[in-house]
Formats: sequence, C-alpha cells, structure tokens
Amino acid sequence: MNTGQCKHKKIALMKIAILPGDGIGPEIVAEAVKVLKVLDLPFETETARVGGAAYEAFGHPLPDVTLKLAKDADAVLFGAVGDWKYDTLDRPLRPEQAILGLRKNLGLFANFRPAICYPQLVEASSLKRELVSGLDILIIRELTGDIYFGQPRGRRIATDGHFPGAEEAFDTMRYSRPEIERIAHVAFQAARKRGKRVTSVDKANVLETFQFWKDIVTEVGLQYPDVALDHMYVDNAAMQLVKAPKKFDVVVTGNMFGDILSDAAAMLTGSIGMLPSASLNSQGQGLYEPSHGSAPDIAGKGVANPLATILSAAMMLRFSLNQPEAAARIEQAVDRVLSLGLRTPDIYSEGTTRVGTVEMGDAVVKALG
Ligand code: IPM
Ligand code: MG
Repeated sequence: MNTGQCKHKKIALMKIAILPGDGIGPEIVAEAVKVLKVLDLPFETETARVGGAAYEAFGHPLPDVTLKLAKDADAVLFGAVGDWKYDTLDRPLRPEQAILGLRKNLGLFANFRPAICYPQLVEASSLKRELVSGLDILIIRELTGDIYFGQPRGRRIATDGHFPGAEEAFDTMRYSRPEIERIAHVAFQAARKRGKRVTSVDKANVLETFQFWKDIVTEVGLQYPDVALDHMYVDNAAMQLVKAPKKFDVVVTGNMFGDILSDAAAMLTGSIGMLPSASLNSQGQGLYEPSHGSAPDIAGKGVANPLATILSAAMMLRFSLNQPEAAARIEQAVDRVLSLGLRTPDIYSEGTTRVGTVEMGDAVVKALG
C-alpha cells in the first residue's frame, strides 16, 4: 500500500477505483465522490463498469479492465450490483459474481460491518428505543471462504432420462486453518480498540466446519488474554441480536452467517441505508461499499440514501488511505446533517425534512465546513 508516508518525498498520489455498478449504485457513489473531492486530498479517481452495467457493455460482470483497475488501486469505492432482470442468466454471468470475484481476486477476507444507531435515528428502528439507543456493534464477517467459495458445487443431472432438470444440488462448506486464524486475529485486534469482547458465532452443534472454526478461534484467543471471548450458535445469535443487541461488542463469524446476521444488525439501527462497510486484504488494500444492495425499485428516482456510501468513503480514508482526520470530518458532517433533521425517505419520520439523494450529498458537503 502506498500512502505517501515518506517524509522527504513528494506525497504520492493515491488511486481510488470507482465502481458504481447497478441500480442506485451510480447515484449514491456520485454523492460520495462529490464529498471526497471537496476534501482536497492527494488522490485521483478512475471509474469502471461492474455488475449488470459491465455485462451490458462487455458481456461479463467483472471484465479484465475493471479487475485490473481495482487491483492497481489503493482502494476501491463500490456502489452495488444486481437487478432482477439478470436472474435468468447463467450464474457466472450474474452481477453478484462481480463482487464475489473482486473479493476473491483481491483477497479481501476481512469484512467490517459496523452497526451503529445514531441517536437522531433511534425512532427509525423497528426495536424499542431502550434496546437500540447507544448501539455500537461491529460484525466481522470472513469474506473469501465458507460455502460461498467451497468446491465442489453444482447440480447433478438426472440419469434416468425422464427428467431434463437436475436431481440434486450441492455446495460445500469449507474452511482452512489459516483462513480462520487470520480472521480471528482481525477480530481480537479490533476488539482491543473498543469494548474488548469478541463473540464468535458458529453452528458447532451440527457442522464439522464450525466445530473446527470454534476450536481455532479459541486457540487464537489465548494470545489475547485481555479480550473476553464467548461462543454462540448462529440461531441463538440471531435471537440475541433482536432481543438484547447491546450485549454484543465484536461479532466474528463465517461468510454465510455473517451475510445474514449483518443484514439483521443493520436493520436494528433504523436503516440499512446508513451502514458502511470495509473489506480488507492483508496489505490494507480495501473495497468500501454500503451494506445495502442495488435497490432497483427506487433506482433513478433520486430518493436513495447516499449516507452509507459517504460513510464508506470515510472508512476508506481511515483504513486504506491513512487520512483519519478527513474520515472524522466526513463522519461529523453526516452527524450534523442528521441533527439538522434532513432525511431521505428510508429514514424519514414525522417532524423531519424529507430530502433526495443529491440534496443529502450537498448537505454533507456544506456541513464539512
Ligand atoms: C452482501 C451481499 C452479497 C453477499 C451478494 C450481493 C453476493 O448480500 O455483500 O452482503 O452475499 O455477500
Ligand atoms: Mg448480504
């Protein structure tokens, strides 16, 4: 990673790959880029197509030119991919394969999904105020292993000749020791910087893969005596998340469980439209994207909430570009616009001011001071 830290040389120009994608992706990414540009930092951006947009232009959701741009960049700012209209395509051509391919090819194994409930938005949560007020949990999802990438996978075609379709389908759940060790270290180190508690979520009562997971997380935990570790089955974790979410500090889990639990955790905060995420590799290179999807139903209407993407840009400045002050400026600006009562429809409540995507981005720019 080149962050221009050398004292005697000219500060290197950081390179950010911008991949807006599909649906609301281009609208929300445009607002985040607008915010980044007024910060006057030494970076350059280059944009490429990804997902359905890339399939339309190049016949593939992750063309070589996009992958190369992402690999060569210091960081990637990603919007969202997917649209129902691609559901009938062969799996390798579907938009979702683009984000999976980026994660795998860049080795982005550590996915940070914070779920923070802004005091200004406490009423937007579906849970009672006292359950979510002050909520600040961090889900760390392993992102390049598990059933998402396990081999073999596929469908077995019927052999009796009577049925043209498949007889069964299978995906393989798999983790290696180094994969579990490295994500466990990430979780314990993150916990050290906050509440010093890690909950490892598994399904060790049923699945071999997750007994293995549990054993290895326990082993790694011995190196962090200052961090409290507990283990929870995923079904119980889902229940505890909606029953008493503030009990959690850092949650570490596999790819599949992390996908599900992070959506549930996001909703506790009132709106998935507020939540950023970071996916990092071992060199600190990262892909930053909102936790929500491409929302094709509201695409092009100018109503999508850009704040998750703007906050993802802040995470990018902090984690990959070594600009913590600029990151904090963005976060404070978002806090300010919420305090001013500005709300996109997803977080609107009575007594607040409804704004669109561009107005929200403009308000953040103004609040940067
Ligand atoms: C996410 C998404 C992706 C996932 C999809 C789009 C492949 O749901 O980032 O959570 O399942 O990981
Ligand atoms: Mg998901």
